[in-house]
Amino acid sequence: MTSTALPGHPHIAYRHNELFVEDVRVSDLAQAHGTPLFVYSTASMREALAAYQRGFAGRKLHICYAMKANSSLAMLQFFARQGCGFDIVSGGELERVLAAGGDPAKVIFSGVGKTRAEMRQALQAGILCFNVESEAELEVLSEVATAAGRTAPVSIRVNPNVDPKTHPYISTGLKGNKFGVAHERTLAAYQRAAALPGLRVVGIDFHIGSQITEATPYLDATDRLLDLVEAIEAAGIPIHHIDFGGGLGINYNGDTPPAADALWQQLLAKIDARGFGDRQFMIEPGRSLVGNAGLCVTEVLYLKPGEEKNFCIVDAAMNDLPRPAMYQAFHAIVPLQAPTGVAAAVYDVVGPVCESGDWIGRDRSLAVQPGDRLAVLSAGAYCMSMSSNYNTRGRAAEILVDGALAHLIRTRETAQDTFRQEILLP
Ligand code: LLP
Repeated sequence: MTSTALPGHPHIAYRHNELFVEDVRVSDLAQAHGTPLFVYSTASMREALAAYQRGFAGRKLHICYAMKANSSLAMLQFFARQGCGFDIVSGGELERVLAAGGDPAKVIFSGVGKTRAEMRQALQAGILCFNVESEAELEVLSEVATAAGRTAPVSIRVNPNVDPKTHPYISTGLKGNKFGVAHERTLAAYQRAAALPGLRVVGIDFHIGSQITEATPYLDATDRLLDLVEAIEAAGIPIHHIDFGGGLGINYNGDTPPAADALWQQLLAKIDARGFGDRQFMIEPGRSLVGNAGLCVTEVLYLKPGEEKNFCIVDAAMNDLPRPAMYQAFHAIVPLQAPTGVAAAVYDVVGPVCESGDWIGRDRSLAVQPGDRLAVLSAGAYCMSMSSNYNTRGRAAEILVDGALAHLIRTRETAQDTFRQEILLP
Protein backbone atom coordinates (compact mmCIF):
# COMPACT_ATOMS: atom_id res chain seq x y z
CA MET A 1 0.00 0.00 0.00
CA THR A 2 1.33 3.46 -0.80
CA SER A 3 1.61 5.39 2.43
CA THR A 4 3.06 8.89 2.61
CA ALA A 5 3.56 10.27 6.09
CA LEU A 6 3.17 14.02 6.48
CA PRO A 7 6.54 15.68 7.13
CA GLY A 8 7.12 15.82 10.89
CA HIS A 9 4.08 13.61 11.55
CA PRO A 10 5.23 9.99 11.20
CA HIS A 11 1.86 8.58 12.34
CA ILE A 12 -0.32 10.77 10.13
CA ALA A 13 -0.17 9.59 6.54
CA TYR A 14 -2.02 9.42 3.25
CA ARG A 15 -2.83 5.89 2.15
CA HIS A 16 -4.36 5.81 -1.32
CA ASN A 17 -5.06 9.54 -0.95
CA GLU A 18 -6.97 9.14 2.31
CA LEU A 19 -5.64 10.57 5.56
CA PHE A 20 -4.94 8.04 8.31
CA VAL A 21 -3.90 8.42 11.94
CA GLU A 22 -1.98 5.21 12.59
CA ASP A 23 -4.26 2.52 11.09
CA VAL A 24 -7.51 4.43 11.31
CA ARG A 25 -9.02 6.35 8.40
CA VAL A 26 -9.81 9.81 9.69
CA SER A 27 -12.88 10.31 7.47
CA ASP A 28 -14.46 7.20 9.06
CA LEU A 29 -14.06 8.86 12.47
CA ALA A 30 -15.56 12.11 11.19
CA GLN A 31 -18.46 10.16 9.66
CA ALA A 32 -19.13 8.36 12.93
CA HIS A 33 -18.57 11.19 15.41
CA GLY A 34 -19.11 14.40 13.46
CA THR A 35 -16.91 17.48 13.35
CA PRO A 36 -15.07 19.34 14.78
CA LEU A 37 -13.27 16.29 16.11
CA PHE A 38 -9.88 15.94 17.77
CA VAL A 39 -7.91 12.80 16.93
CA TYR A 40 -4.70 11.84 18.75
CA SER A 41 -2.05 9.20 18.05
CA THR A 42 -0.75 7.16 20.99
CA ALA A 43 2.26 6.04 18.94
CA SER A 44 3.27 9.65 18.51
CA MET A 45 2.99 10.34 22.26
CA ARG A 46 4.91 7.17 23.07
CA GLU A 47 7.75 8.19 20.75
CA ALA A 48 7.88 11.74 22.09
CA LEU A 49 8.17 10.38 25.63
CA ALA A 50 10.80 7.84 24.56
CA ALA A 51 12.97 10.63 23.15
CA TYR A 52 13.20 12.20 26.62
CA GLN A 53 13.83 8.81 28.21
CA ARG A 54 16.68 8.16 25.74
CA GLY A 55 18.17 11.57 26.45
CA PHE A 56 18.26 10.79 30.18
CA ALA A 57 19.21 7.10 29.89
CA GLY A 58 21.06 5.96 33.00
CA ARG A 59 20.03 9.06 34.99
CA LYS A 60 17.57 9.54 37.81
CA LEU A 61 14.70 11.19 35.96
CA HIS A 62 11.13 11.97 36.89
CA ILE A 63 8.95 13.21 34.02
CA CYS A 64 6.00 15.36 35.06
CA TYR A 65 3.71 15.84 32.06
CA ALA A 66 2.58 19.50 32.05
CA MET A 67 -1.08 18.60 31.82
CA LYS A 68 -2.26 22.07 30.89
CA ALA A 69 -1.20 21.15 27.35
CA ASN A 70 -3.99 18.58 27.14
CA SER A 71 -5.72 17.51 30.31
CA SER A 72 -8.37 15.16 28.94
CA LEU A 73 -8.67 12.27 31.40
CA ALA A 74 -7.69 9.51 28.98
CA MET A 75 -4.58 11.46 27.97
CA LEU A 76 -3.60 11.69 31.66
CA GLN A 77 -4.35 8.01 32.07
CA PHE A 78 -2.04 7.27 29.14
CA PHE A 79 0.85 9.21 30.71
CA ALA A 80 0.18 7.79 34.18
CA ARG A 81 0.41 4.28 32.68
CA GLN A 82 3.76 5.22 31.16
CA GLY A 83 4.99 6.02 34.68
CA CYS A 84 4.80 9.80 34.38
CA GLY A 85 3.89 12.24 37.08
CA PHE A 86 2.16 15.54 36.41
CA ASP A 87 2.90 19.24 36.60
CA ILE A 88 -0.33 20.86 37.78
CA VAL A 89 -1.32 24.51 38.16
CA SER A 90 -4.65 24.29 39.97
CA GLY A 91 -6.69 22.24 42.39
CA GLY A 92 -8.87 21.32 39.45
CA GLU A 93 -5.91 19.78 37.66
CA LEU A 94 -5.11 17.77 40.80
CA GLU A 95 -8.65 16.42 40.81
CA ARG A 96 -8.23 15.43 37.15
CA VAL A 97 -5.00 13.55 37.96
CA LEU A 98 -6.76 11.62 40.72
CA ALA A 99 -9.80 10.92 38.50
CA ALA A 100 -7.47 9.53 35.83
CA GLY A 101 -5.74 7.21 38.31
CA GLY A 102 -2.53 9.28 38.50
CA ASP A 103 -0.30 9.03 41.58
CA PRO A 104 -0.42 12.23 43.70
CA ALA A 105 3.04 11.36 45.04
CA LYS A 106 4.33 12.11 41.51
CA VAL A 107 2.66 15.52 41.23
CA ILE A 108 4.37 18.90 41.33
CA PHE A 109 2.32 22.06 41.75
CA SER A 110 3.41 25.18 39.79
CA GLY A 111 1.73 28.55 39.41
CA VAL A 112 2.01 32.08 40.78
CA GLY A 113 -1.40 32.22 42.43
CA LYS A 114 -2.02 29.10 44.50
CA THR A 115 -4.87 29.67 46.94
CA ARG A 116 -4.81 28.46 50.55
CA ALA A 117 -7.58 26.00 49.68
CA GLU A 118 -5.50 24.58 46.83
CA MET A 119 -2.47 24.30 49.12
CA ARG A 120 -4.52 22.37 51.69
CA GLN A 121 -5.94 20.11 48.99
CA ALA A 122 -2.46 19.34 47.62
CA LEU A 123 -1.01 18.71 51.10
CA GLN A 124 -3.91 16.39 51.86
CA ALA A 125 -3.30 14.48 48.61
CA GLY A 126 0.42 14.15 49.47
CA ILE A 127 1.97 15.69 46.39
CA LEU A 128 5.69 15.43 45.63
CA CYS A 129 6.53 19.13 45.60
CA PHE A 130 5.22 22.68 45.54
CA ASN A 131 7.05 24.77 42.96
CA VAL A 132 6.86 28.08 44.81
CA GLU A 133 6.88 31.24 42.71
CA SER A 134 7.30 34.06 45.24
CA GLU A 135 8.60 34.86 48.71
CA ALA A 136 5.06 35.75 49.82
CA GLU A 137 3.89 32.29 48.75
CA LEU A 138 6.55 30.67 50.98
CA GLU A 139 5.08 32.40 54.02
CA VAL A 140 1.50 31.42 53.23
CA LEU A 141 2.40 27.82 52.37
CA SER A 142 4.29 27.42 55.64
CA GLU A 143 1.30 28.79 57.55
CA VAL A 144 -1.18 26.51 55.78
CA ALA A 145 1.04 23.44 56.24
CA THR A 146 1.65 24.14 59.92
CA ALA A 147 -2.08 24.58 60.53
CA ALA A 148 -2.68 21.24 58.80
CA GLY A 149 0.00 19.56 60.91
CA ARG A 150 2.15 18.85 57.86
CA THR A 151 5.36 20.02 56.23
CA ALA A 152 5.18 21.08 52.61
CA PRO A 153 7.96 19.88 50.28
CA VAL A 154 9.14 22.90 48.31
CA SER A 155 11.20 23.89 45.32
CA ILE A 156 11.63 27.54 44.41
CA ARG A 157 11.08 28.51 40.80
CA VAL A 158 13.97 30.68 39.74
CA ASN A 159 13.49 33.34 37.11
CA PRO A 160 16.89 33.09 35.43
CA ASN A 161 16.34 36.16 33.22
CA VAL A 162 17.16 34.47 29.91
CA ASP A 163 15.39 35.16 26.64
CA PRO A 164 13.72 31.99 25.32
CA LYS A 165 13.17 33.73 21.94
CA THR A 166 9.54 32.79 21.66
CA HIS A 167 6.17 34.59 21.50
CA PRO A 168 6.01 37.21 24.32
CA TYR A 169 2.82 35.65 25.76
CA ILE A 170 4.57 32.32 26.31
CA SER A 171 7.95 33.62 27.43
CA THR A 172 8.20 33.22 31.20
CA GLY A 173 11.84 33.41 32.28
CA LEU A 174 12.55 37.11 31.74
CA LYS A 175 12.81 39.75 34.46
CA GLY A 176 9.63 41.44 33.30
CA ASN A 177 7.55 38.22 33.61
CA LYS A 178 5.36 37.42 36.60
CA PHE A 179 6.93 34.00 37.10
CA GLY A 180 9.42 32.74 39.64
CA VAL A 181 11.77 34.41 42.10
CA ALA A 182 14.43 36.73 40.70
CA HIS A 183 17.87 35.15 40.44
CA GLU A 184 19.32 37.70 42.87
CA ARG A 185 16.65 36.97 45.49
CA THR A 186 16.84 33.20 45.27
CA LEU A 187 19.46 32.49 47.95
CA ALA A 188 17.66 34.69 50.47
CA ALA A 189 14.37 32.97 49.59
CA TYR A 190 15.93 29.54 50.23
CA GLN A 191 17.30 30.73 53.57
CA ARG A 192 13.84 31.89 54.52
CA ALA A 193 12.27 28.63 53.31
CA ALA A 194 14.73 26.59 55.37
CA ALA A 195 13.83 28.62 58.45
CA LEU A 196 10.07 28.36 58.09
CA PRO A 197 8.49 25.64 60.27
CA GLY A 198 5.98 24.34 57.71
CA LEU A 199 8.40 23.84 54.81
CA ARG A 200 10.97 21.26 53.77
CA VAL A 201 13.30 22.30 50.93
CA VAL A 202 13.57 19.51 48.36
CA GLY A 203 14.46 21.07 45.03
CA ILE A 204 14.94 23.95 42.66
CA ASP A 205 13.27 24.62 39.32
CA PHE A 206 12.95 26.89 36.32
CA HIS A 207 10.65 27.08 33.33
CA ILE A 208 11.71 29.72 30.86
CA GLY A 209 8.96 29.65 28.26
CA SER A 210 7.19 27.56 25.70
CA GLN A 211 7.69 26.67 22.02
CA ILE A 212 11.45 27.14 22.47
CA THR A 213 13.27 26.11 19.31
CA GLU A 214 16.91 26.62 20.31
CA ALA A 215 19.19 24.95 22.85
CA THR A 216 20.95 28.16 23.93
CA PRO A 217 18.29 29.49 26.34
CA TYR A 218 18.29 26.12 28.16
CA LEU A 219 22.08 26.05 28.32
CA ASP A 220 22.22 29.59 29.71
CA ALA A 221 19.43 29.01 32.22
CA THR A 222 21.03 25.74 33.35
CA ASP A 223 24.33 27.48 34.02
CA ARG A 224 22.59 30.10 36.09
CA LEU A 225 20.56 27.49 37.96
CA LEU A 226 23.62 25.42 38.82
CA ASP A 227 25.38 28.56 40.12
CA LEU A 228 22.47 28.93 42.51
CA VAL A 229 22.52 25.26 43.58
CA GLU A 230 26.19 25.74 44.53
CA ALA A 231 25.43 28.88 46.50
CA ILE A 232 22.38 27.41 48.27
CA GLU A 233 24.20 24.21 49.22
CA ALA A 234 27.21 26.24 50.39
CA ALA A 235 24.74 27.94 52.73
CA GLY A 236 23.93 24.50 54.19
CA ILE A 237 20.65 23.82 52.41
CA PRO A 238 20.77 20.57 50.41
CA ILE A 239 18.95 20.51 47.06
CA HIS A 240 17.69 16.99 46.31
CA HIS A 241 16.21 17.49 42.87
CA ILE A 242 16.76 19.83 39.95
CA ASP A 243 13.75 20.55 37.73
CA PHE A 244 14.36 22.05 34.28
CA GLY A 245 10.73 22.78 33.45
CA GLY A 246 9.25 22.22 30.01
CA GLY A 247 9.13 24.43 26.97
CA LEU A 248 10.69 22.44 24.13
CA GLY A 249 9.00 23.48 20.90
CA ILE A 250 7.51 21.43 18.08
CA ASN A 251 7.45 21.82 14.33
CA TYR A 252 4.35 23.79 13.37
CA ASN A 253 5.57 25.48 10.23
CA GLY A 254 9.08 24.34 9.39
CA ASP A 255 10.28 25.11 12.94
CA THR A 256 13.40 23.15 13.80
CA PRO A 257 13.56 22.62 17.56
CA PRO A 258 16.28 20.26 18.75
CA ALA A 259 15.11 16.67 19.31
CA ALA A 260 14.51 15.99 23.01
CA ASP A 261 17.25 13.36 23.21
CA ALA A 262 19.81 15.55 21.43
CA LEU A 263 18.96 18.57 23.58
CA TRP A 264 19.33 16.59 26.78
CA GLN A 265 22.57 14.96 25.75
CA GLN A 266 23.93 18.47 25.23
CA LEU A 267 22.55 19.76 28.53
CA LEU A 268 23.68 16.72 30.49
CA ALA A 269 27.22 17.14 29.15
CA LYS A 270 27.22 20.57 30.75
CA ILE A 271 25.59 19.28 33.94
CA ASP A 272 28.16 16.45 34.17
CA ALA A 273 31.03 18.86 33.59
CA ARG A 274 29.79 20.90 36.53
CA GLY A 275 29.59 17.82 38.74
CA PHE A 276 25.81 17.54 39.06
CA GLY A 277 25.30 14.51 36.82
CA ASP A 278 24.11 12.13 39.53
CA ARG A 279 21.31 14.32 40.87
CA GLN A 280 17.60 13.52 40.76
CA PHE A 281 16.34 15.34 37.66
CA MET A 282 12.84 16.41 36.80
CA ILE A 283 11.32 17.87 33.65
CA GLU A 284 7.86 19.25 32.87
CA PRO A 285 7.25 18.83 29.14
CA GLY A 286 3.78 19.52 27.77
CA ARG A 287 3.55 20.57 24.13
CA SER A 288 6.46 18.37 22.97
CA LEU A 289 4.66 15.23 24.24
CA VAL A 290 1.25 15.83 22.71
CA GLY A 291 1.31 18.73 20.24
CA ASN A 292 2.09 16.87 17.06
CA ALA A 293 0.16 13.78 18.18
CA GLY A 294 -3.14 15.51 17.49
CA LEU A 295 -5.20 16.96 14.68
CA CYS A 296 -8.62 18.57 14.52
CA VAL A 297 -11.00 17.52 11.77
CA THR A 298 -13.32 20.18 10.45
CA GLU A 299 -15.84 20.35 7.61
CA VAL A 300 -15.98 23.05 4.95
CA LEU A 301 -19.37 24.78 5.24
CA TYR A 302 -19.13 27.55 2.64
CA LEU A 303 -16.73 29.12 0.21
CA LYS A 304 -17.05 32.87 0.04
CA PRO A 305 -15.03 34.52 -2.70
CA GLY A 306 -14.23 38.20 -2.18
CA GLU A 307 -12.44 41.08 -3.80
CA GLU A 308 -9.58 41.10 -1.33
CA LYS A 309 -9.87 37.69 0.26
CA ASN A 310 -11.48 34.35 -0.35
CA PHE A 311 -12.90 32.78 2.75
CA CYS A 312 -13.19 29.09 3.45
CA ILE A 313 -15.71 28.86 6.28
CA VAL A 314 -15.36 25.70 8.35
CA ASP A 315 -17.21 24.29 11.36
CA ALA A 316 -14.27 24.57 13.78
CA ALA A 317 -13.64 27.98 15.32
CA MET A 318 -11.56 29.99 17.75
CA ASN A 319 -13.42 28.35 20.63
CA ASP A 320 -11.98 24.97 19.49
CA LEU A 321 -8.62 26.19 18.18
CA PRO A 322 -7.75 29.38 20.09
CA ARG A 323 -4.05 29.54 19.26
CA PRO A 324 -4.24 31.48 15.97
CA ALA A 325 -6.45 34.16 17.55
CA MET A 326 -4.36 34.37 20.72
CA TYR A 327 -0.80 34.06 19.43
CA GLN A 328 -1.12 34.46 15.66
CA ALA A 329 -0.08 30.82 15.68
CA PHE A 330 0.31 28.75 12.52
CA HIS A 331 -1.32 25.35 12.18
CA ALA A 332 -0.94 23.45 8.92
CA ILE A 333 -4.24 22.53 7.25
CA VAL A 334 -4.53 19.51 4.95
CA PRO A 335 -7.47 17.77 3.25
CA LEU A 336 -8.69 14.37 4.45
CA GLN A 337 -9.01 13.25 0.87
CA ALA A 338 -6.76 14.25 -1.97
CA PRO A 339 -8.68 16.78 -4.07
CA THR A 340 -10.14 15.60 -7.38
CA GLY A 341 -11.04 18.00 -10.14
CA VAL A 342 -11.35 21.12 -7.95
CA ALA A 343 -9.15 24.11 -8.69
CA ALA A 344 -6.99 25.34 -5.84
CA ALA A 345 -7.46 28.89 -4.56
CA VAL A 346 -5.98 30.91 -1.74
CA TYR A 347 -8.29 31.18 1.28
CA ASP A 348 -8.43 32.48 4.78
CA VAL A 349 -9.79 29.52 6.72
CA VAL A 350 -12.22 30.91 9.27
CA GLY A 351 -14.80 29.64 11.75
CA PRO A 352 -18.44 30.58 12.40
CA VAL A 353 -17.73 32.67 15.53
CA CYS A 354 -18.77 36.31 15.25
CA GLU A 355 -15.33 37.92 15.46
CA SER A 356 -12.80 38.83 12.82
CA GLY A 357 -10.22 37.26 15.15
CA ASP A 358 -11.85 33.90 14.46
CA TRP A 359 -9.42 32.58 11.92
CA ILE A 360 -7.63 29.24 11.79
CA GLY A 361 -5.27 29.78 8.87
CA ARG A 362 -4.48 32.70 6.59
CA ASP A 363 -3.63 32.68 2.90
CA ARG A 364 -3.79 28.91 2.49
CA SER A 365 -3.86 27.33 -0.93
CA LEU A 366 -6.61 24.71 -0.86
CA ALA A 367 -8.58 22.78 -3.47
CA VAL A 368 -11.86 22.40 -1.62
CA GLN A 369 -15.60 22.52 -1.95
CA PRO A 370 -18.36 22.60 0.67
CA GLY A 371 -18.72 19.26 2.43
CA ASP A 372 -15.01 18.46 2.18
CA ARG A 373 -13.18 17.79 5.39
CA LEU A 374 -9.86 19.28 6.47
CA ALA A 375 -7.40 18.36 9.22
CA VAL A 376 -5.82 21.13 11.27
CA LEU A 377 -2.48 19.72 12.33
CA SER A 378 -0.36 20.11 15.50
CA ALA A 379 -3.58 20.39 17.48
CA GLY A 380 -2.73 18.02 20.36
CA ALA A 381 -1.48 20.73 22.72
CA TYR A 382 -3.21 23.86 24.01
CA CYS A 383 -6.28 23.39 21.82
CA MET A 384 -8.88 21.25 23.60
CA SER A 385 -7.46 22.33 26.97
CA MET A 386 -7.92 26.00 26.01
CA SER A 387 -11.24 25.54 24.25
CA SER A 388 -14.33 27.42 25.40
CA ASN A 389 -18.07 27.57 24.88
CA TYR A 390 -18.01 31.03 23.30
CA ASN A 391 -21.06 31.55 21.10
CA THR A 392 -22.60 28.60 23.02
CA ARG A 393 -20.65 26.14 20.95
CA GLY A 394 -20.30 22.75 22.60
CA ARG A 395 -16.77 21.46 22.89
CA ALA A 396 -15.63 18.96 20.26
CA ALA A 397 -15.41 15.20 20.72
CA GLU A 398 -12.01 13.49 21.07
CA ILE A 399 -10.64 10.18 19.84
CA LEU A 400 -7.44 8.47 20.93
CA VAL A 401 -6.10 6.12 18.27
CA ASP A 402 -3.91 3.16 19.15
CA GLY A 403 -3.01 1.14 16.04
CA ALA A 404 -6.32 0.13 14.48
CA LEU A 405 -8.28 0.96 17.64
CA ALA A 406 -10.09 4.26 18.00
CA HIS A 407 -11.16 5.08 21.56
CA LEU A 408 -13.80 7.75 21.99
CA ILE A 409 -12.39 9.65 24.99
CA ARG A 410 -14.79 12.60 25.06
CA THR A 411 -18.28 12.91 23.64
CA ARG A 412 -19.38 16.09 21.95
CA GLU A 413 -20.78 18.63 24.40
CA THR A 414 -24.44 19.53 23.88
CA ALA A 415 -25.92 23.00 24.27
CA GLN A 416 -27.61 21.74 27.48
CA ASP A 417 -24.19 20.74 28.82
CA THR A 418 -22.97 24.28 28.31
CA PHE A 419 -25.68 25.85 30.48
CA ARG A 420 -26.08 23.11 33.09
CA GLN A 421 -24.71 25.29 35.93
CA GLU A 422 -26.96 28.24 35.15
CA ILE A 423 -30.03 29.25 37.13
CA LEU A 424 -33.06 31.12 35.84
CA LEU A 425 -34.52 33.98 37.85
CA PRO A 426 -37.50 33.10 40.07
N1 LLP B 1 5.95 24.00 33.35
C1 LLP B 1 5.39 25.19 33.63
C2 LLP B 1 5.59 25.77 34.95
C3 LLP B 1 4.63 25.86 32.64
O1 LLP B 1 4.08 27.02 32.93
C4 LLP B 1 4.45 25.24 31.38
C5 LLP B 1 3.67 25.91 30.33
C6 LLP B 1 5.04 23.99 31.15
C7 LLP B 1 5.79 23.40 32.15
C8 LLP B 1 4.91 23.25 29.85
O2 LLP B 1 5.45 23.96 28.79
P1 LLP B 1 5.52 23.25 27.34
O3 LLP B 1 6.46 22.07 27.45
O4 LLP B 1 4.16 22.82 26.99
O5 LLP B 1 6.03 24.32 26.47
N2 LLP B 1 -0.99 28.25 25.61
C9 LLP B 1 0.33 28.49 25.06
C10 LLP B 1 1.40 27.81 25.87
C11 LLP B 1 1.41 28.21 27.34
C12 LLP B 1 2.44 27.49 28.14
C13 LLP B 1 2.28 27.76 29.58
N3 LLP B 1 3.16 27.06 30.47
C14 LLP B 1 0.33 28.04 23.60
O6 LLP B 1 -0.68 27.57 23.11
O7 LLP B 1 1.34 28.18 22.91
